[in-house]
Amino acid sequence: MQGILAGKTGIITGALDENSIAWKVAVKAVEQGAKIVLSNAPVALRMGTIHTLANQCNAPVIGADATAQEDVEKLFDQTREHLGPQVDFVLHSIGMSPNVRKGKHYTNLNYDWYQKSLDISALSFHRMLQVAYQKDAIKEWGSVVGLSYIAAQRTFPDYGDMADAKAVLESIARGFGYHYGKKNKVRVNTISQSPTKTTAGSGVGGFDAFFDYADKMSPLGNASAEDCANYCISLFSDFTRMVTMQNLFHDGGFSSTGISTEMMEKFAS
Ligand SMILES: NC(=O)c1ccc[n+]([C@@H]2O[C@H](COP(=O)([O-])OP(=O)(O)OC[C@H]3O[C@@H](n4cnc5c(N)ncnc54)[C@H](O)[C@@H]3O)[C@@H](O)[C@H]2O)c1
Repeated sequence: MQGILAGKTGIITGALDENSIAWKVAVKAVEQGAKIVLSNAPVALRMGTIHTLANQCNAPVIGADATAQEDVEKLFDQTREHLGPQVDFVLHSIGMSPNVRKGKHYTNLNYDWYQKSLDISALSFHRMLQVAYQKDAIKEWGSVVGLSYIAAQRTFPDYGDMADAKAVLESIARGFGYHYGKKNKVRVNTISQSPTKTTAGSGVGGFDAFFDYADKMSPLGNASAEDCANYCISLFSDFTRMVTMQNLFHDGGFSSTGISTEMMEKFAS
């Protein structure tokens, strides 16, 4: 089969339903010639529609709570049974904040939930990388991608403790990217994606206003989940071999725009 991922194998986490960014990545990875395994938390396997995707992609589904050490180890061990000793790429597309879900203001966080947000949305990235590193489960020049948001750099009041989780996530890409690059030339990056209409995205308060504002502030408009998937595929491919330890903005230009004509017009008297 032709395609820029021909002959490559990978693990794709976080496909809950057809709106999920990971769902689009899975479809495109297979279209581009890769063989994949899918993974999500056991509860998501029951509630979501991942099995439809699994059929479409001819991919096994391995349940794993990304915060549980034994689950993440099992994920890499079982992947070996399906795809061989080492994979070429891993997508971490996992995020959840109980504080954001339950509308807890940033000045009144529940600390147990805060730890959960960090554990699920950031430390799980380190955990996956550490398990892969110790099991030598990723090929030389392999590529690991996590998904982030610009609230890691700038404050968006309703994004709550997820902003802190994203800052940690991006830092892990740099920290682990150094060590994995030295050991095995494995690349680690995060993509900072535009607001996207998914279950996780829509959980953030005022999401629609957020979405429209970003769209009007971006010269290219918001990047869709589909566009994000294309970018992920390029990072899994051999065309980006020297890119590592980066947080890569994929946002239609939002992060470099001070103000747009549309916003000027909105405030002109
Ligand atoms: N939607 C947006 O606006 C947006 C913007 C930038 C970045 N992101 C990031 O993209 C990633 C994917 O989110 P999405 O927008 O596709 O939404 P989504 O809700 O479809 O995906 C989030 C996934 O995380 C999984 N998950 C939650 N807890 C888990 C656990 N303990 N173990 C394993 N998996 C778990 C969920 O089951 C779900 O599949 C997240 O990191 C999110 O923060 C989203």
